[in-house]
Amino acid sequence: MPLTVVNHPLAQHYLTHLRDETTKPATFRTITRKLTTLLAIEATRDLRTAAQPIRTPLKAIDSPILDEELVIVPILRAGLGMVDAIVDLFPEVSIGYIGMERDEATAIAKNYYRKLPTLVGRTVLLVDPMLATGGSAARALGDLYEQNPARVRVICVVAAPEGVQRLESVFPEVDIYTAALDEGLNDRKYIVPGLGDFGDRLYGTY
Ligand code: PRP
Ligand code: URA
Repeated sequence: MPLTVVNHPLAQHYLTHLRDETTKPATFRTITRKLTTLLAIEATRDLRTAAQPIRTPLKAIDSPILDEELVIVPILRAGLGMVDAIVDLFPEVSIGYIGMERDEATAIAKNYYRKLPTLVGRTVLLVDPMLATGGSAARALGDLYEQNPARVRVICVVAAPEGVQRLESVFPEVDIYTAALDEGLNDRKYIVPGLGDFGDRLYGTY
């Protein structure tokens, strides 16, 4: 499973502001959106195109247009902060939702919602900013693969080695795109250095 760390200087600049504990929700939301744009561009670098016959003012040519049906699936709630950036890039995209919440004591994710469009033969972008133990993403991937998508890519903001290894062992075909591969998890299964609880910082629930 290839892991791509998007180390574009602008992505790293945005990530620094997300990590900074003084960043308030309003800025946190804006920066999440900007950073997601950069991550999504990288994660869709090899989308299929088709040749479209057009005329420029000077000449008739065959020119590429996107030729792939994309689906985004955010993991609620924090993944919602990443959706608008991708819809801006790909307005035709279909959107599915998977609700997942970690138990505070055990860090085990339980599923509380699922609404998915048809995924058969489509390219799916599973978006969730934090890949910590990988439990939430692994459960979501299990749901997605029930429907035989053409391929699935995970886009996150920060990944822990533990989460990457977990996905790698269960879903070796999945590609992961992240702005950072951090040191690891603490005893509460939070990513270190990480940026704290993404959902709380995004929605101001602290
Ligand atoms: C966070 C985060 C991921 C999950 C990652 O969600 O947004 O979904 O934890 O942790 P894992 O890799 O160990 O499963 P959380 O459960 O806090 O819910 P929220 O998005 O509603 O805040
Ligand atoms: N969820 C978060 O929001 N942050 C972490 O560090 C781990 C899980």
